[in-house]
Amino acid sequence: MSSPIGWRGLVTGASGGLGRYIAKALAASGVDLVLTGRDLVALNAVADTVRAQGRTATVLLADLSEPDAVTQLVSESNATAGPIDLLVNNAGVEVASAYTRYTETELSQIISLDLLIPLQLIREVLPGMVARRRGHIVNICSLASLGPLPYGVPYAAAKAGLAAATHSLRVEYAGSGVGFSALIPGFVTGPASSPATRPPAAQLPRSSGQCPPNASPRP
Ligand SMILES: NC(=O)c1ccc[n+]([C@@H]2O[C@H](COP(=O)([O-])OP(=O)(O)OC[C@H]3O[C@@H](n4cnc5c(N)ncnc54)[C@H](OP(=O)(O)O)[C@@H]3O)[C@@H](O)[C@H]2O)c1
Repeated sequence: MSSPIGWRGLVTGASGGLGRYIAKALAASGVDLVLTGRDLVALNAVADTVRAQGRTATVLLADLSEPDAVTQLVSESNATAGPIDLLVNNAGVEVASAYTRYTETELSQIISLDLLIPLQLIREVLPGMVARRRGHIVNICSLASLGPLPYGVPYAAAKAGLAAATHSLRVEYAGSGVGFSALIPGFVTGPASSPATRPPAAQLPRSSGQCPPNASPRP
């Protein structure tokens, strides 16, 4: 990816555990941001941090599970902040349960937020990026994209699908000026998706490890 200084990035789930650190890291790299989620207070706090870092921050409230939310979000973002150069598909949900205990609603909510909505967001922003010959899509995947996650079957299915879509898009759009990255975090301590919140039967092996969201990459 070329230098992102002056790029405009849209971060979904910017109010959440990882999202606020992603926003902070992007602002430190010179990216102006559109921050979205459902929690206005948390989003405004992230926006204040981004502005204190010298970048612009626009807060757009969106419940992405609502019909037409994706189209509305992108058109509001274009209208208020300008075209998006960087999309970070970070919003996600994990519900740990024995597979046969998931309700129909839970199954479709997880597949929707973790796979379908990221794909729809990509479809909305990609034509503009291709026309401008610059852009990058970052899909926040999971270790569950790579291997089994007992008691997380729909999440694993969605995150594996998201990683597969990322790899396929990268090949399909090679040479377009638009890049695609699948980011695979390990287990991060946070309010919702950390091992501590998994039921006893769904605990993961100690070897899978755990780190705080602001941990520095190993040299
Ligand atoms: N934490 C981990 O260990 C871990 C490991 C691997 C991958 N991941 C992935 O990393 C990403 C962030 O995880 P996290 O731990 O930071 O999760 P989190 O703290 O639960 O945050 C999830 C974010 O998604 C947003 N969100 C949820 N439902 C939404 C909806 N219907 N419409 C709009 N936004 C919605 C939330 O927004 P509001 O709060 O404003 O509603 C929140 O900002 C997820 O994709 C997750 O699967 C996490």
